[in-house]
Order: sequence, then C-alpha cells, then structure tokens
Amino acid sequence: MQKQIMIQILAPILLLLFIVSYGLLTSYWNRKSGSSKINLPPGSFGWPFIGETLSLIRAGLKGTPERFVQNRIEKHGSPLVFKTSLLGHSMAVLCGPAGNKFLFGNENKLVALWWPSSVTEIFGRCLITVRGDEAKWMRKMLLSYLGPEAFATHYATTMDIVTRRHIQVHWQGKEEVNVYKTVKLFAFELACRLFMSLEDPNYIAKLGSLFNVFLKGVGGLPLDFPGTRFYKSKKLADAIRTELKGVIKERRVALEEGKASSSQDFLSHLLTSCDENGRFLTEMEMANNILLLLFTGHDTTTISISLIIKSLGEYPDVYEKVLREQLEISKGKEAGEMLTWEDVQKMRYTWNVVSEVMRINPPVVGSFREAMVDFEYAGYTIPKGWKLYWSAVTTHRDEANFQDVTHFDPSRFEGVGPIPFTYVPFGGGPRMCVGKEFARLEILVFLHNIVTNFKWDLLVPNEKIIYDSMATPIKGLPIRLHPHQP
Ligand code: HEM
Repeated sequence: MQKQIMIQILAPILLLLFIVSYGLLTSYWNRKSGSSKINLPPGSFGWPFIGETLSLIRAGLKGTPERFVQNRIEKHGSPLVFKTSLLGHSMAVLCGPAGNKFLFGNENKLVALWWPSSVTEIFGRCLITVRGDEAKWMRKMLLSYLGPEAFATHYATTMDIVTRRHIQVHWQGKEEVNVYKTVKLFAFELACRLFMSLEDPNYIAKLGSLFNVFLKGVGGLPLDFPGTRFYKSKKLADAIRTELKGVIKERRVALEEGKASSSQDFLSHLLTSCDENGRFLTEMEMANNILLLLFTGHDTTTISISLIIKSLGEYPDVYEKVLREQLEISKGKEAGEMLTWEDVQKMRYTWNVVSEVMRINPPVVGSFREAMVDFEYAGYTIPKGWKLYWSAVTTHRDEANFQDVTHFDPSRFEGVGPIPFTYVPFGGGPRMCVGKEFARLEILVFLHNIVTNFKWDLLVPNEKIIYDSMATPIKGLPIRLHPHQP
C-alpha cells in the first residue's frame, strides 16, 4: 500500500524531471543545428519532448490523420518535406509519392527502418529491430513461410476451414453482430492456428485477452512507470512471451520425438531453419518473432475486413458485383469443396474493392526510417540520426494522386492501376510488409464466405473511423444480418 502511494507521488515528479531535461537537451540540439548553418527543412519542433506528437494523435482521433501532414505542408509552404518532432525525436516528414519512392529506394543506403522505443522495447530482438544482413536473413526465413509459394501449396484450404467454422459459430443464427470484435476473434484464432497449430479455444481466448490489453500501449509515448499504457504493454508482452516459450519448448520435444513435422506451421519452420553459417534463432528470438507476427498479423486484417464489410453495406451495387463474382467461383465447385489458391486468383473485382477500401482507410497510416548519414533531399539537409516519416494516408487521400479523392471507386485498380508510389498500404522497398500475401488470402477467403452467406445493414449509418494508432470504427461496426435463402 505504502509502496503504491510512493509510486503515485514519485511518478509525476519523475515524468516532469524527464520532460524538463529532455526539453533542455532538444532545444540545445536544435540551437546547435541552427548555429552550424545546416539548411534544415522548414517546420517546427513544437513543445519540448512531446514536440508535435499530440497534434498527430489529435488528427488521428478526429478521423483525419492526413491533416497533420497537409496542414504543415500548407503552413510551411514546402510540399516535399518539413521538419517536426514526434515521440521525442527530430524528424523529417517526406511527403507524397516522391517521398515514398525516395525512402523505399534508399533502404540500407541512406536510410534504415526505425521504430520508436515504445515498439522496439516491447518486441525485443526480432525482424523489425534488426537491420542489414541480419534483417535480410530473418525476412527470407519469414517469407519462405509467408510468401506466395508457401500459400499456393498449403494454406488456402486451412484458411477456408477455419473461416467456415468461425462463421458457423459466431455469425450463423445471429441477428446482429459487432463486426470489429467478432472479426478480431477470427483473425487471432487463424493466426494462432496457422503460426503455431494452436487448437484449444480456451487457450486461444486466454492469449487473446492478454493481447487486447497489450496492443493498447504499442507505438504510443514510451512512459515507463506504473499506470501508463506502455508499462502495462511491456508487462503483458513478457507474460505472452512466457506462454510462447512454453509452446516452443513443447514443439521442440515433439519434433525431436518425430511427433510433429518440420513443415507443419511457422513455429516448426523457425525451429528447423538456420542461416548459411548454421545459426538457428534463439528461443527468445523465436518468441519475439511470433509475438511480432501475431501482432502485425491480426490487427491489420481485422480492421481491413471490418472496413470492407462497412463499404459493402454502404454501396449495395458494389456488394452485388462482389456477390456475383463469388457465386461464379462457388458454381465451379462441388458442395462442401474448400477454396484453393487458384480460386482466390479469380477474385479480381473483390480485390479491387479491398484495395479501394485500403486506399481510403489504410489500416497502417505510415511508418518510420532513420537517416544513416547526412543527406540532401529537395534542397535541404537531413542530418544523420534524424528520423524520417512517410504517410500512406496522406498520399492516398490527396486529390493530386487520386481524382475525386473521396469517391469510392474500385475501378481505379483496373488495368495498370494507380501511379507508382501513390498507393502504398503495405509500404515498399526491402522493408515492405512480409504479410501481404497472408493478408490478401485471409481477407478474400473471409469475404467469399461472408457474402455467399449473408447480406447486412449497418446499424450505425456513417459510423466514424478514427485512428487510435490504427484505423478503428468507433462503435465497432454493429450490423444486422440477413442470411441468403437456400
Ligand atoms: C491488410 C493487412 C496489412 C497491412 C495494411 C500491413 C501494412 C504494413 C506496413 C505499412 C508495414 C511497414 C512497411 C514499411 O515500413 O515500409 C508492414 C510491415 C510488416 N508487416 Fe504488415 N500489413 C498487413 C498485414 C500483415 C500480416 C497479415 C502480417 C503477418 C502475417 C504482417 C507482418 C508484417 C511484418 C513482420 C512487417 C515488418 C517487415 C519488416 O520490417 O521487414 N503484416 N505491414
């Protein structure tokens, strides 16, 4: 009790001290940069320590994350780049397709992937916290499980089985469904099943509830004391890691005893893969990479599926066209026959709809890089060590890149599609999302099953989408279901 009171008194004092000393350090650094006559991009560092972070968060919570970048482009009269300070770091925001192209094309040359400490401290040593050759090896290992070749042979059917069972349990016989909450269950179960062959619904629910609290502190301010979201996330990440290590140990034994196969799932794949020098991942690295994939692999697809269901509810003509395409695929199959990779390749119109949803509401707003050396961009100097930010949502919602930008129009993706680097929901270059194929397959298999079973009404018309680190419908997208007549 006494300890708790002490913490409650000390925590704000420590935070204040931290902010003041950080503020002094950043203003010293900013003055130093000015006095050495470096031609920095125009812009403002905002408040000590927090810089302009609160403006970025506010723009997201209002549902207009693109305004953070757009307002500053207008204010500083610099359409290509401006400086700011986010999450305690001096940062250059590279704008538009030119900025995306520059960052994606200069990975490991001028820039390298960077995530804030509120991400790296939580995930530890794994793909997103290593660089150079180490990152290339880990990506290769992940892609040999997550890439299109692996999916072509293995996973479409498993995804279909899990999806059908989920719909049977959580959708059929229900009048109303909260889409976001329900799809989250599905995406987490699918990830647990495909990555680690977990089957026990109680164990999956236990991991899922740890995850839901854990997610809230990833990517925010790294304030590490009791009561903050970040502190809670770190504790829960440790708890999840302990669970994962248990699963890893059991599998190692099962592999040694010949009771599990090396191609069974992602976990077996990690346990049996090494680099060209014979180095295997440590148990901690395996747990960290699985934690990373569970995180990246279920929240992004949950929000994508939810927003697609929202758009299909809003545009009945688009729903009808998607349904027609999916029924055409069903017609070519025996009753009860599962979907295959080839079936998924035929879902062209449905994928254009998915792409248009991700254009208007990209699940991930953008991400970061770090300058590895001093370099020039658009006539300005970006100093070594500065962080860089690119924003998918700003390029996607810019009239200069997409005519009639707010209009929902899947035909934008027909033919050659958008101009390169204007449409970047999965990032680009050597650090492009490794789960793109996994996401594509999961989303399309889910949509096939949902539209061939139901039509629906949105219970909250024009439900607002906010960005609380990721896109989220504020009421969780409740819908009324209308099953198709047999
Ligand atoms: C619609 C779904 C998804 C979207 C929109 C998405 C988007 C992104 C974006 C924007 C990045 C950062 C790229 C960059 O910085 O250039 C990323 C990275 C990543 N994604 Fe995804 N993602 C999705 C699904 C998935 C899935 C299903 C998985 C795993 C199965 C996954 C795993 C990863 C990983 C591991 C990285 C880090 C890659 C690296 O640092 O080399 N993502 N994703």
